[in-house]
Amino acid sequence: MTTSHQQPPAPTAAEVEDMTLEQRARLAGELDDVDVVHNQPKWPLSGTRAEKRAERSVALWFVISAVSGLAFLAAFLFWPFQYVAPGEPGYSLYALYTPIVGFTFGLAVLAVGVGVIAYIKKFFPDEVSVQQRHDGASDEVARLTVTAQLVKAGKDTDIARRKLIVRAAGGAAGVLGLGLGIAAVAPLVRNPWKGGDDAALWVTPWKPVNGETVYLRRDTGDPHDISLVRPEDQDPGSMETVFPFRESDRDDEEALVRSLRASDAPVMLIRLRPDQQVVHRSGQENFNYGDYYAFSKICSHLGCPTSLYEAQTNRILCPCHQSQFLATEYARPVFGPATRPLAQLPITVNDEGYLVAKGDFAEPVGPAFWERRYNP
Ligand code: FES
Repeated sequence: MTTSHQQPPAPTAAEVEDMTLEQRARLAGELDDVDVVHNQPKWPLSGTRAEKRAERSVALWFVISAVSGLAFLAAFLFWPFQYVAPGEPGYSLYALYTPIVGFTFGLAVLAVGVGVIAYIKKFFPDEVSVQQRHDGASDEVARLTVTAQLVKAGKDTDIARRKLIVRAAGGAAGVLGLGLGIAAVAPLVRNPWKGGDDAALWVTPWKPVNGETVYLRRDTGDPHDISLVRPEDQDPGSMETVFPFRESDRDDEEALVRSLRASDAPVMLIRLRPDQQVVHRSGQENFNYGDYYAFSKICSHLGCPTSLYEAQTNRILCPCHQSQFLATEYARPVFGPATRPLAQLPITVNDEGYLVAKGDFAEPVGPAFWERRYNP
């Protein structure tokens, strides 16, 4: 309700400076046209058993928050988070990583929230106030007195003498702050460039090691079922997803699973329809084998799998944010938020007639990161 309510003459800022906390808080109410109809302290008699019980129940929430925060920190730092395939030793622990980190963090935040609400409900005075609305911003005196009002509100709850709650809340806030700080800084601690040109961000599982041939294989669901790809296997205008395979990995379960699960390994092998007009990327004119083109499946926008290939338009679609890439023009983006082409894998056919990689990608796959090298 907006009124032309008559306000008391406002004191000067100097007069406000000389006032006590109570006087300032009262003045703040008057200046805001607040009429306190009823104000009843929650605990008129201090030190009763009921009051102590209420204090302990509030502190308990902050203790729960602090303990959850510590558990979150411990899980975040020490719980095994490296990928383990289902059925392998350690899978159960790995599978619990995300639920445990999420649960402990969620509980820590929730308990702080419940603690604050419980504190307000149990210790703030019962008060009924009526305030007239007025237009425009508050003047300087009003702004000065608001602080006093807030401090007085805190004093009314006797927070200063409720050491248990103060300590528990301080502990919870400290642990939560520490946890958030470590969570923010921890990912920056590892050096992503360790290994120089062989650093994880530069290379993919397609990189040849010791001159060994890297074949294109399908994922049949069984890592030991090695299904290699021949050019005659695919119809024109079709696409299939392929992964790297080395003979030295054949009996190595871990290596086989890793090459199928690595986030930068999936490649779309596309066989264009005959007679397509094709534009090659500069320096990558021989990356294809006939009508076969191999592009990283990792979207250059934010890394989703660009799994959809539309044969009629030769467009590769990313379902996440609808970026589209033209397969006949080195998978350059033609629609959506992606700004870079999909990385192209150089391929050929070996003496046995299988499709193989001629080398690793010429640039990092997937979305941008600091210091990414760009190959025009
Ligand atoms: S991740 Fe592909 S369009 Fe955003």
